[in-house]
Amino acid sequence: MRAAASLFAALVAVASALTYRAADISSLIVVEDSGVEYSQNGVVIPFEDILVANGMNTARVRIWTAGQYNLTYALAMGKRVKDAGLTLHVDLHYSDTWADPGHQAIPSAWPTTLSRLNTQIYDYTQSVVQAFTDQGTPVDILQVGNEINNGLLWPVGEISVNGFDGLSQLLNSAIHGGLSAGSPKILVHLANGWDWSDLKYFWEGVFGIQGALTQSEVDIMGVSFYPFYGTNATLANLSSSLTNLVNEFDKPVVVAETNWPAVCSGVTLSEPEIPISAQGQEEWTGDIKSVLNGLPDGLGQGIYYWEPGWIGNAALGSSCSDNLLVDSSGAVRQSIDIFGDDM
Ligand SMILES: *[C@@H]1O[C@H](CO)[C@@H](O)[C@H](O)[C@H]1NC(C)=O
Ligand SMILES: *[C@@H]1O[C@H](CO)[C@@H](O)[C@H](O)[C@H]1NC(C)=O
Ligand SMILES: *[C@@H]1O[C@H](CO)[C@@H](O)[C@H](O)[C@H]1NC(C)=O
Repeated sequence: MRAAASLFAALVAVASALTYRAADISSLIVVEDSGVEYSQNGVVIPFEDILVANGMNTARVRIWTAGQYNLTYALAMGKRVKDAGLTLHVDLHYSDTWADPGHQAIPSAWPTTLSRLNTQIYDYTQSVVQAFTDQGTPVDILQVGNEINNGLLWPVGEISVNGFDGLSQLLNSAIHGGLSAGSPKILVHLANGWDWSDLKYFWEGVFGIQGALTQSEVDIMGVSFYPFYGTNATLANLSSSLTNLVNEFDKPVVVAETNWPAVCSGVTLSEPEIPISAQGQEEWTGDIKSVLNGLPDGLGQGIYYWEPGWIGNAALGSSCSDNLLVDSSGAVRQSIDIFGDDM
């Protein structure tokens, strides 16, 4: 009876697990090169293997058009990801450096007119996907642009400057380029997943351009969801925003970036009831999972923890001092288990 009951419990847990139990581990080789070793229970193991042993099944890797996170680096990461048996999600920033809602600079070597950029983004996306295909590590999920709420390749593809016309064409070109060299799922990623008016404005606008991006070209809609950039980023707002998103567009949705602090002071978080600790990291991801599981038609499909192992940059761009799933020695925190039951 007892065995039957625990088997049943295991089946229930498996049945409700999200499709993408993920992390962005782009910095991994950079961190290793700085001398860090990761460990669980005192045993040193490559970080991706620790993550897999704890239930992760998908890894996201960013690519810049120059600098540290260039294609050469990303190809090395792609090998690591695939060797670990993970689904490979490639995140194209289309910039020489970070792209986010406030930064979408055209790569310095790229042209600056819409017609030439359409060709450039097609060719570049094709060549990146082809490079992964050629080394035997095909891209499974292709993300075209990073947090592009106000477009990309500014000012040409900047919504607030040029409306949706340029952006919609550029995304269409990028996707066609990528699909000419492989068969990845296409993901488009926006910041502020809790903000339905922002998501609605973007998606209705970008799909509203004749002869450019169509709804059928997008396989997955991704959002970022962070607790430290404003108190409107509540779980309740996320739930209503993503419910509206799914009801209007009927696409799979993932929280493509999130994290929660293990250490933080002087910052008002959007869910102040959740503790600032490894336990809180588990609660936060578990609560996001509940939001996703509550979406219509099973369309809430994944959570990505952003950069859980970036020792040397533990604040991860926030005002909290440490959002990692490991301590400064590289030993995992108890929250390493979020990739199991909490996703
Ligand atoms: C590409 O990235 C690698 C690893 O981060 C770095 O060593 C190399 O200098 C980069 N190449 C260029 C051209 O920036
Ligand atoms: C929070 O949401 C409310 C209502 O939608 C809005 O008026 C307010 O400006 C938002 N605050 C921030 C900081 O975004
Ligand atoms: C989000 O949450 C805040 C706080 O609960 C609320 O005031 C706001 O109106 C909500 N909605 C949006 C769209 O921000």
